[in-house]
Amino acid sequence: MTELLTETVVQEPHRIRGLEMPWNRVMGSTEGPASAARALGPWHPQEFMAECVEIVPEVGGMMTFVFRRSDGAPLAFRAGQYVSVAFPVNGEDQDPADRSYSLSSAPTKPWTFDITVKRDPTGLVSPWVHENIKPGTVLEMLGPVGAFHLPDADRRARYLLLAAGAGITPIMSMVRTIHSLPGEADVVVLYHGAAAEGFAFNKELAYIASVDSRIKVFYSLGDRGKPDDWEGLSGRLTAAMLDQVAPDANGRQVYACGPEGYLNTATELLGKVGVDDTSIHMEFFTGDRQTILEYQAELALAADIAEEIAEEIADSAEDYYESQPTAFGLYEPGYDAGGTLKATGLPLETSDPDGSGSDAADGGADVEQEAVTPDASSFETVGTGSLTLSFMRTGINVRVDPSEHILGPAQRAGVRIGANCKEGMCGSCKIVKLSGEVEMNHQGGIRAREIDAGKFLPCCSTAQTDMVIDA
Ligand code: FES
Repeated sequence: MTELLTETVVQEPHRIRGLEMPWNRVMGSTEGPASAARALGPWHPQEFMAECVEIVPEVGGMMTFVFRRSDGAPLAFRAGQYVSVAFPVNGEDQDPADRSYSLSSAPTKPWTFDITVKRDPTGLVSPWVHENIKPGTVLEMLGPVGAFHLPDADRRARYLLLAAGAGITPIMSMVRTIHSLPGEADVVVLYHGAAAEGFAFNKELAYIASVDSRIKVFYSLGDRGKPDDWEGLSGRLTAAMLDQVAPDANGRQVYACGPEGYLNTATELLGKVGVDDTSIHMEFFTGDRQTILEYQAELALAADIAEEIAEEIADSAEDYYESQPTAFGLYEPGYDAGGTLKATGLPLETSDPDGSGSDAADGGADVEQEAVTPDASSFETVGTGSLTLSFMRTGINVRVDPSEHILGPAQRAGVRIGANCKEGMCGSCKIVKLSGEVEMNHQGGIRAREIDAGKFLPCCSTAQTDMVIDA
């Protein structure tokens, strides 16, 4: 039998117009797909526990730590954002050191997420992280945080991504995200490093550039230590270099991340090649005092939001999740007459530093509430057992045995307590005891300072005395 050999014609991929993040369309959609998006969880900062599941050494003194949330939920974030991680560098019973790290993985793969940490031998935290974090390590995190990220929808997705040194981590998240999505995009990455063998993710970047015609990657090496066979660019960032890699830079959105000096130079040069200020987005990796204060303010706001959300979930997990995502009005796409996609985000609320606004009004309400604290002796009592748990907000007394974990009888009696792992790991069932004693056998779902503040995890706690509980 004769086989005919014919030339295989590879079709150019037919791309949809622009780039759109998967959640953008789905979240504004009808009930079916919207419920799929809801599975990704709410898009605002939360405090959660996460377990390291893998460690990937990178070149350039970096290490990638792959995590998954202990509560089993995916982490919803946008490419470029960061999380704040509490590292118990001085032991579990001491205050942890909080540090922010960009997420280097793509949010289109949300069941695990990566942070990539560069070791600074003179630092307190990064050497500890490299030496101590292993698969199985559980850490407390807050996030996602940060306004430095790709848009949810962009009909003209043309980007210039600039990275220097460890500044590649949020840029890598962006590259991975764009590569994982369909759609037209035109991406130029310019990555500066100090040593030829120190470009983190270079194998993956080379692979992506070789299979995805939308993404081009250029490397530039400082003149010192340049090997003879170096084929990339040389020297610091200049206007000529920007022109060389992206002659149309002024039509692109620029995302840049790296040390402060590098970003200051980039800002100046981008102006020279005609890039408008409004098209420049920057993330400082090592910042001056002003930048650090801005980061702290962002984190404080994120912590406030996380606390509010946690309270809402504790009040009524069912109602809370039912209300997602419409209650927050997040990322609903709109179309203008010309067909342009717009992403509409969560309106920002200003904080009230002097406490003269709504906080003060709430404080007044609290005082009033205290005055009408209910009397537990008038509550209905359910269950059998030798001890009585009074749930003040629900208004019920539950009788339990000292050997019984508190969560089950409480939930059966109608006390609304959100709970995921039921093993003391995820922290989602955390509640406050107003009086009485518990014995708790947790697995990292609560911190020493929270226990000091009267919190406990009813899924892994037994009552030792009668108790009054704020739930
Ligand atoms: S349900 Fe996870 S810690 Fe209690």
